[in-house]
Amino acid sequence: MPSLYERLGGEAAIEAAVARFYDKVMDDPKLAPYFDGYDIVALLRKQIAFMTMAFGGPNNYTGRDLRTAHAGLVKRGLGDAEFDAVAGHLKATLEELGVSEALITEVLTIVGGTRNDVLSR
Ligand code: HEM
Repeated sequence: MPSLYERLGGEAAIEAAVARFYDKVMDDPKLAPYFDGYDIVALLRKQIAFMTMAFGGPNNYTGRDLRTAHAGLVKRGLGDAEFDAVAGHLKATLEELGVSEALITEVLTIVGGTRNDVLSR
């Protein structure tokens, strides 16, 4: 079976989806403060590379592991509520783009698998 990356539509589709997803996260007043002071374009590139790798596409991810990358944010209060809100924006994005429920479930399962790393557990 083709990778999830391919079934989602490959590079252009993932880039478009992640950009749209990031807009939603940045527009969410309970999430935006966590991103204050960061280079959002650089972060978006890393997020695209991470998701590409996580969904079985080419591995060009050069960022840190998710535990290290989010440890400071956890100290600032990042928890399940924020994680769920981010995952919810991703789900809404994929729904808006017409991605099937089955593929959305696969995406959310993979992203959900990062929870313990993101939240330093
Ligand atoms: C849902 C699962 C998540 C994934 C897959 C994810 C993925 C990533 C990736 C790949 C990076 C880049 C790592 C690097 O800079 O080396 C990153 C950094 C970052 N993420 Fe997440 N993230 C998630 C959840 C969250 C949540 C819930 C928040 C806050 C609401 C968040 C805020 C940030 C911020 C602010 C950075 C920059 C940290 C820094 O450079 O010090 N992330 N994330």
